[in-house]
Amino acid sequence: MELLNAIESRRTVRKFTDEAVSAEVLDKIMYTATQVPSWKNTRTPRFTVITDKALINKIADEAVFGMAHNSGIIKGAPVLVIQSAIKELAGFDPDKTPTTKYGDSYTFFDAGLAAQNISLAACEQGLGSVIMGIIDYDKIAQFISLPADEEIIVAIAMGHPESTPSSPKKYSVSEIVRYI
Ligand SMILES: Cc1cc2nc3c(=O)[nH]c(=O)nc-3n(C[C@H](O)[C@H](O)[C@H](O)COP(=O)(O)O)c2cc1C
Repeated sequence: MELLNAIESRRTVRKFTDEAVSAEVLDKIMYTATQVPSWKNTRTPRFTVITDKALINKIADEAVFGMAHNSGIIKGAPVLVIQSAIKELAGFDPDKTPTTKYGDSYTFFDAGLAAQNISLAACEQGLGSVIMGIIDYDKIAQFISLPADEEIIVAIAMGHPESTPSSPKKYSVSEIVRYI
């Protein structure tokens, strides 16, 4: 699939079939997260790929702040990627002082780049995915024994799409770009 085609056809998919995703396909998708640019090449994004249905269901039941919408998505997903990041590296000087006024925002900035690669690669592999921010980070950190120097950023559910939604409204170039 051409990159521009993938960028245009990628949709947030929230319903998946029961079909498992092969380890080979998961490896291909996760490889793309290693190829992202990052603040001073700090490479802080980390991932826990969960295919254990019991753990996926536990997260759906206990770690979404009671949000039925996200709980339903997670329960129906054959794969749940918990995206985390090493803390206090991206955006910081070696002595841990924030380099700019944006502090640790670059940890999240770099995580976003990786999440987009994963979303596009999933699309290219014929899978659907949804990035989820409303998750109980602390509980999930416990469930997956997250290393203490990491923090959870988002979860990404993925699988074979049951159906692909049509595009929600997007801005035109002229609405978001100023050429000077
Ligand atoms: C940081 C982030 C957090 C999101 N959190 C959720 C979420 O918790 N639940 C959900 O259903 N969708 C979530 N989404 C998906 C957005 O709602 C979706 O990207 C948006 O509606 C645009 O649709 P599209 O991805 O198909 O273009 C999130 C997306 C991003 C980038």
